[in-house]
Amino acid sequence: MVLKKHIIFVALVVFAVSMNFALALPLDGYSSFSSREEDEPCEIIVSDAEKQERLLMRNGMVQTMYRWPNNTVVYNMDSPPFDAAEKDLVERSLKTIEQVTCVKFLKRTNEDFYVNLTANSGCSSQVGYQGRLQNGPQRLNLSKSGCFSLGTIVHEFLHALGFYHMQSASNRDDFVTIKWENIQTGKEHNFEKYGANVITDFGISYDYLSVMHYSAYAFSSNKEATIEPQDLAYKNLIGQRNGLSEKDIAKINIMYNCPE
Ligand SMILES: *[C@@H]1O[C@H](CO)[C@@H](O)[C@H](O)[C@H]1NC(C)=O
Ligand SMILES: *[C@@H]1O[C@H](CO)[C@@H](O)[C@H](O)[C@H]1NC(C)=O
Ligand SMILES: *[C@@H]1O[C@H](CO)[C@@H](O)[C@H](O)[C@H]1NC(C)=O
Repeated sequence: MVLKKHIIFVALVVFAVSMNFALALPLDGYSSFSSREEDEPCEIIVSDAEKQERLLMRNGMVQTMYRWPNNTVVYNMDSPPFDAAEKDLVERSLKTIEQVTCVKFLKRTNEDFYVNLTANSGCSSQVGYQGRLQNGPQRLNLSKSGCFSLGTIVHEFLHALGFYHMQSASNRDDFVTIKWENIQTGKEHNFEKYGANVITDFGISYDYLSVMHYSAYAFSSNKEATIEPQDLAYKNLIGQRNGLSEKDIAKINIMYNCPE
């Protein structure tokens, strides 16, 4: 409720030169309440190699090398910086994914590959399992001011599981219109769409209600919409950060080959 207005969109585009950075990601900060007026979009940081690969994406990564082995995301959350209440919210948020999929989240003991949660500015995550593609743990930033809501935590962990933003889908122009004239200068890259051979929708249709969709006003320079759903009934619904949509659940289950 607090900051409905405009948050600061920290933009950070790094085209990592080496594969070590394989896929990085976004910054989305949201205030602690779900949703639509709050746009704190993520941004995506990608290497050139990865850019090539992403040429045909819907929003889930196709390559199985980016999936967590054994359907298990290992994560570390040091305290400090995180306190008991923050750890508890992360656990509860992850449980909402575990309850409806076969994906598991495991607190790290001595595993080599894991997500290390940091409390840097913005909310951001690398996309998909990085494993040996980089030295050191993969990152997921949850700023203490602005990222601690269930929907935002779920959103960032869906990046870690291998999902990009919904409106980057290769077929998004059939569902939303991007209003380039309303986008902050320098933020246009966040509205690129990608092709479909590496990223897939797994046969599940475009999802306005995905927790991975940006809100209508994401990165707006003038308070006008930057994303307009072709079905205007969804204008105030895109960008929800309450939790997984039905289609988000379906896609995770397909991506991770969960038994029916
Ligand atoms: C895979 O996950 C199961 C259940 O979470 C666990 O018992 C098993 O040890 C894991 N295997 C590996 C190789 O991590
Ligand atoms: C997690 O990241 C923090 C901040 O960079 C670092 O100090 C800490 O050692 C990392 N923890 C692990 C287990 O990787
Ligand atoms: C997390 O924050 C650090 C420091 O601000 C930044 O270097 C890093 O790229 C961020 N991680 C991601 C995945 O964006």
